[in-house]
Formats: sequence, structure tokens, C-alpha cells
Amino acid sequence: MQQISVLGLGYIGLPTAAMFASHGVKVFGVDVNEETCRIINNGGVHIEEPYLGEIIKEQVARGMIICSSEVQPADAFLIAVPTPITKEKTADLSYVISAGKSVAKVLKRGDLVVLESTVPPRCTLDVLLPVLEESGLKAGEDFHLAHCPERVLPGQIIYELKHNNRVIGGVNMESAEKARELYSVFVEGEMYLTDTVTAELCKLMENTYRDVNIALANELAKICERLGTNAWDVIKYANKHPRVNIHQPGPGVGGHCLAIDPWFVVESAPDISPIIELSRNTNDSMPQYVADKIKDLVPHGSKIVVLGCTYKPDIDDLRESPIMDLVELLNDNYEVVIVDPFINDYDVNVYEAATNAELVILGVHHKKFAAIDLVKLGKVLKTPVLLDTRNYFSRSDVERAGFEYHLLGASDESGITAAEREVASTDE
Ligand SMILES: NC(=O)c1ccc[n+]([C@@H]2O[C@H](COP(=O)([O-])OP(=O)(O)OC[C@H]3O[C@@H](n4cnc5c(N)ncnc54)[C@H](O)[C@@H]3O)[C@@H](O)[C@H]2O)c1
Repeated sequence: MQQISVLGLGYIGLPTAAMFASHGVKVFGVDVNEETCRIINNGGVHIEEPYLGEIIKEQVARGMIICSSEVQPADAFLIAVPTPITKEKTADLSYVISAGKSVAKVLKRGDLVVLESTVPPRCTLDVLLPVLEESGLKAGEDFHLAHCPERVLPGQIIYELKHNNRVIGGVNMESAEKARELYSVFVEGEMYLTDTVTAELCKLMENTYRDVNIALANELAKICERLGTNAWDVIKYANKHPRVNIHQPGPGVGGHCLAIDPWFVVESAPDISPIIELSRNTNDSMPQYVADKIKDLVPHGSKIVVLGCTYKPDIDDLRESPIMDLVELLNDNYEVVIVDPFINDYDVNVYEAATNAELVILGVHHKKFAAIDLVKLGKVLKTPVLLDTRNYFSRSDVERAGFEYHLLGASDESGITAAEREVASTDE
């Protein structure tokens, strides 16, 4: 492969371009955002990702990466454009279509096109293929077409691009094999070849599996509160079974994958995917469930401190964060103050923020919160009450600091007290 073109130079496209360039393949980067192209052509990057800046700087200087908003002829085209979700919970494929149209203009016999974006099942065949065939060439005969979904974790993208296993779906086996040949330039993980719909569903079902599993845990949390016991203990002990892996409950599911991808599956077969849809709705109901609990804990008008607002711990990403949904639900009736060391606007002194508050909610379990002095925190509050939505704090530590402790998914009506449970589980 002499020259490839990467369309969409964001979190996925740019690191992928960097990997090809640093392994000797000349990359023509394409992005509709001219400012993005300008930054990269100057040897810079517009996104935060470890090691990416160094690689781009070096490869641009060596002339291995050049960017433009116009597609140029190449041997292979990788499409990594956004596929956001609409208000109606369907995939917005307009970026995939426009990227496909621009490739079609320069496509020639023998080229390879790989769609990396996360898409609903059959999108490669039913949406991208006809757009590419506007070139007058036939997929699988005149050019190769494959879908190779990306599953890297932000923060570890450079490592994972090289080491993760990949599923490659071709419109025919020759297309899948061509795509494997392309990725083998830098991929050291296994590459599994299949059809496009299988590859699309693999990516979507990985996230759907986790979302459904979390919904199960959230349902259990509600059941345990009603039955007077502790869902975290039920899950911990059930998971001692060698074939059980129930996920953790919480105040909701966020991020740009788990909260979105299952809808792409539902969209493809809405009348026969009730479990997936119900799970999405169950997880989306959790902020309201937590807000209802809060009504029972503190009077209207109280000041509430929320610890953590990102969609998962130890990151600075707010996309689809259920804690931000919770804050919005609370804002009408309470004075809500957020403390989050990962978000500039909320990176405030926790003791000052909590002064005169009547409730502390642990929303996201950032490791940094372990440094909070609970005794000091309890003293600045008007009423020391803590609602832990993640089973993060030790009940005995919190109670020793003078707090009333509440845990999402647990109520204390069994013969064994919560304190006794905690001691028993640390004795294990
Ligand atoms: N970010 C992740 O962690 C991640 C992980 C796995 C899969 N994905 C999937 O990968 C795809 C890309 O995600 P991302 O996070 O890199 O998005 P991004 O928003 O960071 O980058 C996409 C880029 O595409 C550009 N673009 C839009 N339309 C274009 C067009 N027609 N031609 C050329 N460029 C165009 C945008 O300007 C933007 O720079 C999505 O489908 C996403 O779901 C993302």
C-alpha cells in the first residue's frame, strides 16, 4: 500500500493516520474542518491523546502526513467520520454519506474503502455501498469494501490500535482480506474476517451487552431497596460463581458508546428488540430514580453538593453524563453545587463548596475523592447526610465522621446491620 486517505481526523481518524504514517504508509488526511487541517499541517494536534502529538509532529515533518479538505486519489480510503444519534434515537448517517460521495469522485479500479465509524447494521451495504457505486464502479468486483469498527479506549488509543483484536467485515472475502492486509501494517492483534453485518453488530453488541447487564444491576438495585437488602452484596456474592458476571448499578449510563450504540441495534429491528430498548430506558431512568430518593432525604430549597459529574471516573468527559441529567432534575428545587477536579468550571475547594449544604451526593467515584477528609466535610455541612450512588465510601468511615449514610441499591431492614455486613465482607 503506497498511499492511503483517512477521512475524518478526529479521535479515531487522526491516531489511525499517525499509525500508518509511522509505519511507512503515506497518509493523505481529509477533514471538512479546515482549521483541523491547518493545525495538523503545522505539526500540531487538536485533540488530547497520549503520544499522538509527538507522532504527528514527526510524521508531518517527514512529509508522511498531509491534510486537506478535498479528497485526493489514493489506494485505500478509511472513513472515520462522526455518526451521532438524533433526537429520535436513530443514527445520523449524513457524515458517512457525504464522506462516501467525496470518495466516489476519485475512486478507481482496485481501490479499497474501509468504513471505521460505528454504524447501524446493514449501513455498509445499504447506505455506503450505493453512494460509492455512484462512481460507476461495482463493490466487490471493481473495488473492495469493508467495515472495520473501532473499539479503542480514549487515553490508550495508540497502544490499543496496535494491540487490540479486530473484526473485519467485507462485502466479499477478497475485500475483507484486502482490509486485513492494510491493517497488518501496524496491527499486532488477531484479525477476524467476516461479513459486514456481522462486523457492524459485533461492535454494537459489545456495548449493548454491557448496557443490558448494567440495566439488570439497576433493576436489582431497585428490587433490593424494596426488599430491604443490599444489591452490591448480592452482586458481589453472585459473581463468586464462575459463570456469573453481573455489572454494577449506578445513577445511569453515559458516554458516547454505551448510551448510544444499543439504539442503533433497536433502530434496525425495533419490533423485535424489546430487551435492548427496555435496558436503555431502565438506565436512562436512573437519574430520575436518584432524584426521587433525594426528595425523601432533604427538604426543597436545600443546598446539595454533587461530587463528580463526568460520565465515568477519572476522565474529563461529560458526554451523555447521567449526573448532569440528575443535576438538571434537581436544579428547579435545590441549590446544587458540583465539585469535579476533572472539569475546570467545577474544580473547586470541596469544603468551601459544601459549606451549609444539607446533602452530599457521590455521583462519580473519582480516585481523587479518596483524599476528602470526611470529618472536616461533615463539620462544614448544615446536616451531614451522604448519598453514595457508587458504593464508593466505606459506610463505617462515613458514619464515624458523623454522617447519616445512604447507599443506592441498599436498604437496611435485614437481621444483619450494614456495619456488620461491611466487617464480614472485609474479613473475607
Ligand atoms: N472516540 C472514540 O473513542 C470512538 C471509539 C470507537 C468508535 N468511534 C466511532 O468512530 C467514529 C468517529 O468518531 P470520532 O470520535 O473520531 O469523531 P470526531 O468527531 O472526533 O472526528 C470526526 C471528524 O470527522 C470530520 N468530518 C465530518 N464529516 C466529514 C467528511 N464528510 N469528510 C471528512 N471529514 C469529515 C469532522 O470534522 C471531525 O474532525 C464515530 O462513528 C464514532 O462513533 C469513536
